[in-house]
Parts: sequence; C-alpha cells; structure tokens
Amino acid sequence: MKVEFNETIELLKANNQNEIINLMSNVFSEKENEDIIEQIKSINLESVKKLYENATSIPEVQENKIEHIPYTDLSSLTEEEFNSYKSSGEEIIKSGKYAVITMAGGQGTRLGHKGPKGTFKINTINGEKYLFQVIVESLQKANNKYNVTIPWYVMTSEDNNDQTISFLEENNYFGYDKNKVKFFKQGKVPMVKTDGNIVVDKNKLIKEASDGNGSIYKSLKRAGLLEQMKQDSIEWIFVGGVDNVLLRIVDPILVGVTLKEGNLISSKSVVKRNPKEKVGVFCKLNGVPKVIEYTELPEQMAEEVDDNGQLKFGEVNILSHLFNIKALEKLADINLPYHTAFKKSGYLDASGNFVEVTEPNSYKFESFIFDGFSFFDNMSVLRVKREEEFAPIKNAEGNDSPETATNLYNEFHKKYDK
Ligand code: UTP
Repeated sequence: MKVEFNETIELLKANNQNEIINLMSNVFSEKENEDIIEQIKSINLESVKKLYENATSIPEVQENKIEHIPYTDLSSLTEEEFNSYKSSGEEIIKSGKYAVITMAGGQGTRLGHKGPKGTFKINTINGEKYLFQVIVESLQKANNKYNVTIPWYVMTSEDNNDQTISFLEENNYFGYDKNKVKFFKQGKVPMVKTDGNIVVDKNKLIKEASDGNGSIYKSLKRAGLLEQMKQDSIEWIFVGGVDNVLLRIVDPILVGVTLKEGNLISSKSVVKRNPKEKVGVFCKLNGVPKVIEYTELPEQMAEEVDDNGQLKFGEVNILSHLFNIKALEKLADINLPYHTAFKKSGYLDASGNFVEVTEPNSYKFESFIFDGFSFFDNMSVLRVKREEEFAPIKNAEGNDSPETATNLYNEFHKKYDK
C-alpha cells in the first residue's frame, strides 16, 4: 500500500493536484486513501490536465470557412423518388440490418425531473406515457409493420444506469422483448476547479461527470456492442435522444436517402424558425459537415437567404441521426474535441472542509455526438416537418416543455392514428 500511496502522490504532483495530495497526506483515513487511489488508477490525470489547460487558454483564432450544406427536402420528393427510397430503406429494416440507440445518459438539469429523463411521464390523448414507453411504442409499431424485432440499445450514465434498468424491468420493458434490449454506460471525466484542482466530493472521491453524448462511439465499443452488432449483421444504426416525443425512430426514407447519396451518416433537420432562433444548424465548415451552434454563426450569415428566400443556414439539428456501422467503427477510435461548460460544484478543500458554492466554479468537459460528422467528407441531411418529428422536452415550463411537447404529440396522433 505504501508503494501505491507514494506512486499516486508522485503522479498527483506531476499533474499539479496539490489539494488531493493534502487530503491524502493529512485528512483521509487509510481506507479512504485506498478508495481514492483505486479511482485515480482509472483516470488519465495527464489528459485531465490538458483539458484544464485548454479550457483556460485563449483559443487560437482560426480562419473558418462556413458554407451551406445541401439537403433533401422530404416534402419535395417526387412520388417516384419517395417510393424508391422507401423500398430500399424497408429492405434494410426487414432484413434485420437496422438497430436503434437511445441516448439517455443526460442529466436533464433543465427539466428538473428526479430520475432518468426516460422515466418522466406525459399525459396524452392516448393516456399517460413515460418517455421510454413512447420510444418502445414507436419500435413496436415498426416491428409489427416489418415483421422484425429491432434491437434497442440504451446509453445510460454512471449516475442513472441502475435506475434506468430497474425502471424498465419493473415495467416489463413495456412489452418489448428484453433479450433485444442492451444497456451501455457512457464515460465520465473529472470536474476541475478554476484553480486547476480536481473536484473532490463529500464522499471523499473525485467528482466525475458524464462526458457528453459524444461518448457514444467509444462507449459502444468499450461495451463490446459494436462487435456484437457486426456479428448480428447490423448495418444501419439510428441514434436519437430520449426526450423528443415525436422522434421517428424507424424511417425507411432516411435509410433510403442515405443509401442513394452514398453516405455513411445522415441526419434529419427541421427549418429554423427565424434567424435568431437559438439552435444548432447543419453547415459545411472548412469543407466537412458540422453542426454549428448559434453562438458560432456570424449574425450576417444567420440572416442570409438563398434565391428562394430560405435561410442558407436554416437546417436545425434535431438529434435524429443514422450511422452505418463503418462510421461508428471509425468514430470509436477517434478522440472528439471536448467542450467546456462552467458549472457550480461543491468540493472538499485541502483541509477536508466541504465548501458549498453559489456561483459556477468548475469546468465540466463534454464531447458532442455531432462533432463526429466532421470526420467524414459528406453526410445526408433530410429536411422533415417540425410538427411531425420534433417535440422535445427540455425545460420544465415554456418552450420545449412537457406542455408544448404533449400538445404536439396530441396533434400528431389525432391526425395520423387510425
Ligand atoms: P441534452 O444536451 O439536451 O441534455 O441532451 P439533457 O440531459 O437532456 O438536459 P440538460 O441539458 O441537462 O437540461 C440531448 C440528448 O443527449 C443525451 C440526453 O439524454 C438526451 O437524450 N445525453 C446528453 C447523453 O446521453 N449523455 C450526455 O452526457 C448528455
């Protein structure tokens, strides 16, 4: 133990972690030291140090070339195009080459629901429905239509994995074949205070936060699921969020368009409401596909229109993505960039006192799924109707809330459920 203790202290010294050194040397018991040493073994302190350095350095000014990305508009397809996309997409689904991943590792901070977001319930014209139930119903509908059972993968986080699994168990997977459901946990990264010290929590362990939905690629591989998909002859994988109650999880048209355009990745978009809407839009950045945040899009570009009077940068990302297995394999071996969020986090100071904070004091590091798109020359973008495919639950009230999403869900189902 003494050797391990000394080695850990050396490692911490090399990475400027003086607060943890103090805690381990003067405050923690032997057992507490054993626990934190075990945890440190699983953390790459050097890369955490680099993340901190990047977060605090002034970013290099880059000459970025932002260009419009071509898209296919679902509502402008000819009957012939529509039917040909539909039949090639259906072929894939019917032959069992299609799977679905739900990203459910988020914290749902804005909604403020206790428990995983998928366990949140809305009250619809078709009765009360949990968000996970809405997803299962959509899968079951497709299964009946195409006479298959689509494998369903759920990405959870360290924080919500157990609760998610017990919830689905208790609800008997809402009737889904549980053998076709697999869970995998996303990764985590320590939070770091502005002074560079890693946050140590009340429980005397390093505070690690989920590392964003971009974790999906590496986490799938780490869990052995990419390999399993290959063995099961899965070729196309749809990936969506947990909180859009109109998300079209199984859509042969999206598959057909992607096949026809010869891409390995595609996404759906809806039209940006106005130049000021605070959303990320698809574009080409320095020649490759990218979702650009509203904060990064120059105002004048946000206002630009094409010959038809449509916004040039008006294709909103709705977290509705399709990947070929080859794209997932490639992305699992790539380190995506991390984005930094500034958050409040209480911490143990060097003397072991827990400090409550009222203002943000720590960096949280997250990668985003869409940053993976830029590792490909092209992707397909399929524009769909907002009222038919986008009803997210993000906030407790107001825009994108349970109320707005439930209304959209009801309108849609009144129109299309027969
Ligand atoms: P959001 O970025 O909207 O986050 O996630 P959220 O957790 O739902 O809500 P806030 O921002 O804390 O209020 C978009 C999708 O990505 C998933 C979410 O579960 C959601 O389906 N996600 C997000 C993850 O799976 N892991 C993450 O680390 C972050």
